[in-house]
Amino acid sequence: MNPSQRQAPYLQALREYAARDPARLHVPGHKGGPGADPELLEAIGAGALSLDIPALTYGIDVGSDPTPFEQAQRLAAEAWGAKRAWFLINGASQGNLAAGLALAHRGAEVVVQRNAHSSTIDALVLSGLRPTFAAPETDPELGIAHCLTPETLERALDATPGAVGAWVISPTYFGAVADISALAAVAHGRGVPLIVDEAWGAHLAFHEDLPEHALAAGADLVISSTHKIVGSLTQSAMLHLGHGAEEKIGEDEVDRAVTLTESTSPNSLLAGSLDAARRHAAVHGRELLTDTMQALARARESIRAIPGLDVLDERLVGRAGVFAYDPLRLAVDVRGVAADGYELAPLLREIDDINLELYGQNVLVAVFGMGERGLPEASRLVSALQIAVGRVGLDPSGSRASFAAPPPWGELAMTPREAYLGAQEVVPASQAAGRIAAESLATYPPGIPNVLPGERLTAETIAYVQRTLELGGSVRGASDRLLRTVRVVIEES
Ligand SMILES: Cc1ncc(COP(=O)(O)O)c(C=O)c1O
Repeated sequence: MNPSQRQAPYLQALREYAARDPARLHVPGHKGGPGADPELLEAIGAGALSLDIPALTYGIDVGSDPTPFEQAQRLAAEAWGAKRAWFLINGASQGNLAAGLALAHRGAEVVVQRNAHSSTIDALVLSGLRPTFAAPETDPELGIAHCLTPETLERALDATPGAVGAWVISPTYFGAVADISALAAVAHGRGVPLIVDEAWGAHLAFHEDLPEHALAAGADLVISSTHKIVGSLTQSAMLHLGHGAEEKIGEDEVDRAVTLTESTSPNSLLAGSLDAARRHAAVHGRELLTDTMQALARARESIRAIPGLDVLDERLVGRAGVFAYDPLRLAVDVRGVAADGYELAPLLREIDDINLELYGQNVLVAVFGMGERGLPEASRLVSALQIAVGRVGLDPSGSRASFAAPPPWGELAMTPREAYLGAQEVVPASQAAGRIAAESLATYPPGIPNVLPGERLTAETIAYVQRTLELGGSVRGASDRLLRTVRVVIEES
């Protein structure tokens, strides 16, 4: 490891500025604390407020090159093996928006994994790109979506000769990791960059027992939600450009897009936390991850010993769309108990204030951070699960029925941007078939959008969404969560 990784130059520059007690004749108006509301001062502390320093401050991000801010981004690029890293202060969501705008410099079409995060769909709206959607594999037993296979990507790119990029997600919320090397080979074989939304995988670069991270496997642009597992402050994230990306996606194009999608007042605490989280991961990540993985292995064993429960783990590897498994998520399969995930999640809250990252019909997902050493969270979850299962009992059938596969999505009649910006009206769901959707409808399970803006609604899809709701599932993206009405485009006759 480069000894410079032990430094956090940007955080240090912020601290030096605060310690100098300078005349702060600039924003923010709290002036490093004295002008703040007393309760805020007490709640977050004088230290945090003193480090809230605006951009374009001499000695921090202005001055002789490289400034501490530039040094911090360079150290991040080195730690993740990137050609260049950008600190993002609007989350991985900003990374997706910037990726879309960068790609739009090169052309008008793109291949996108169908169950992309909503910020990727927002990127299509902002950029105007016309998507060809590629379906991830769905797990017929668990009713959850896994990753995209190289064969599916190949077919989608063949169907889209004008594509300027391929955009996939790995790892998933549930820990499935895609075969990024093979996906990159497919994309590169057609001369397009592979964009990986690795929001859930910022930690993968720091332990050899974890699945290979996307940049190492050949991805060109990687969106990394550093706050999720590596533990920078919420809303901070990074965007990484791969070493081999230059021909396929330009550094300047990404840089412009990052600037366009960010505030002119980036929060120094967020950026400082990225600098610190990079150091923590680079210097101590391996050791912390070893401990966390051991603690999680013990927790998985205890959960599997509870009748009616199972866990998701590396046994999933080899199923369609699962190339490797990321153990930093503890996903619990609850199909064997007499209550589904929607009922168990509030019960766990009631039993011991257990607050989960995600829950669906069949699976509960608890997220763990890079350094859980000494934290009692895993054993609290195990104990609360024991009590919860004792209360609700086992499913008499042994295991709940799996979900019915959704009908194919409708034809893309206009781009998501055209649909989003076009004239719209709200119509009863019974009259929506044949109309172009102006909103998304994504049923859970399995969370793959049934409809995205610009697509023509079909009677089968509307019936499927309504049936899922009747069975206790949910729909995201809809302005009417009960789907009595749908927002559609007014087409000119
Ligand atoms: C796959 C994926 N991409 C992007 C995001 C957005 O991340 P952020 O909340 O950091 O903006 C999320 C958030 O959960 C996500 O799951």
